[in-house]
Amino acid sequence: MTAAVTLDGVSCTFGHGAGAVRAVDAVDLAIEAGEFFTLLGPSGSGKTTVLRMIGGFTLPTAGRVLIGGADVTRTPPYARAVNTVFQDYALFPHMSIRDNVAYPLMVRKVAKAERHVRADDLLALVQLPGVGDRRPGQLSGGQRQRVALARALISEPQVLLLDEPLGALDLKLREQMQSELKALQRRLGITFLFITHDQHEALSMSDRIGIFNAGRLEQVGTPQAVYDAPATRFVAHFVGAANVLEGDAARALTGHAQAMLRPERITLGGTAGARAAGTVAEVQYFGAFTRVKVDLAPEAPGVPATRPTRLQADLPSFAAGQGRGAAPRLGEAVHLHWDSAAMHALA
Ligand SMILES: Nc1ncnc2c1ncn2[C@@H]1O[C@H](COP(=O)(O)OP(=O)(O)OP(=O)(O)O)[C@@H](O)[C@H]1O
Ligand SMILES: [Mg+2]
Repeated sequence: MTAAVTLDGVSCTFGHGAGAVRAVDAVDLAIEAGEFFTLLGPSGSGKTTVLRMIGGFTLPTAGRVLIGGADVTRTPPYARAVNTVFQDYALFPHMSIRDNVAYPLMVRKVAKAERHVRADDLLALVQLPGVGDRRPGQLSGGQRQRVALARALISEPQVLLLDEPLGALDLKLREQMQSELKALQRRLGITFLFITHDQHEALSMSDRIGIFNAGRLEQVGTPQAVYDAPATRFVAHFVGAANVLEGDAARALTGHAQAMLRPERITLGGTAGARAAGTVAEVQYFGAFTRVKVDLAPEAPGVPATRPTRLQADLPSFAAGQGRGAAPRLGEAVHLHWDSAAMHALA
């Protein structure tokens, strides 16, 4: 099957000489048709630059961009079968909502009656029927976001590029829009390339995630794969909370030079079968779970006394106090347990 979007050795360098910034560094990527693909990475890692090269707003300094198998590296934005939703929505404040949504059709000289019908259809699709006569200033942030989405969809792109489209919304609205966007994508079958620096958003919405760091893709995989089997230390820390063990402590406990253990895979229990022992150094209550930080005892088998290794355990709050009368207390001696499969070696 032809990929919806292919990046073939794509690089982008801004500036020249000593001040040059290699924003994107030899990226290879194939996004399948109908896929919800998320680029996840910290600020400044090059996500927007990748999106702009796919949209045609920035020219790669090396490599090729293909859409639906055709080389579009030098094709102008308007001639590409992609559309972009920017974070700031970029709606025209003086135009009605209907005219905002219909704008791409107006540029293409579609007759007014027809473009208004299509705009109203799209407004219904994003669950905003009846607001066509209002101005952008008369809508909430989340509603404006949906208008921007409707406008991007009206020209029926094969690929929709979304650059942190939910960044400006408050948490509740953001969560609501996450499920709405995902449902809409499934219904329309359009390929979505979604950018975020929010790991929860990436994990909960995507078919696959590409983790971006300093202009390079560190790992591409399903949410489960990048969470359970991060390829690098960077991915382990960026996607979810992670205990990363290294050096002597790692070798003693895992046999590897570097290994990762998710905090929710640790339980507290008795001496029998314990993998490590230590003292509770910190207890934080988060509602659903309680985060307990444990400094491993220097006398724990095989762990040298140089620097205490601190492990973080996220215990379901209802269970944290179970059978113990209370959640662990500061300074308490505890024994840590985990399944051997929970310990993941890092490259
Ligand atoms: N037009 C430009 N000229 C010079 N440098 C640029 C330009 N655009 C981006 N950069 C630099 O390229 C790097 C990547 O920027 P980019 O906007 O792609 O990051 P990002 O991952 O989208 O970050 P954020 O999450 O903050 O939006 C940064 O170091 C940025 O300063
Ligand atoms: Mg950006």
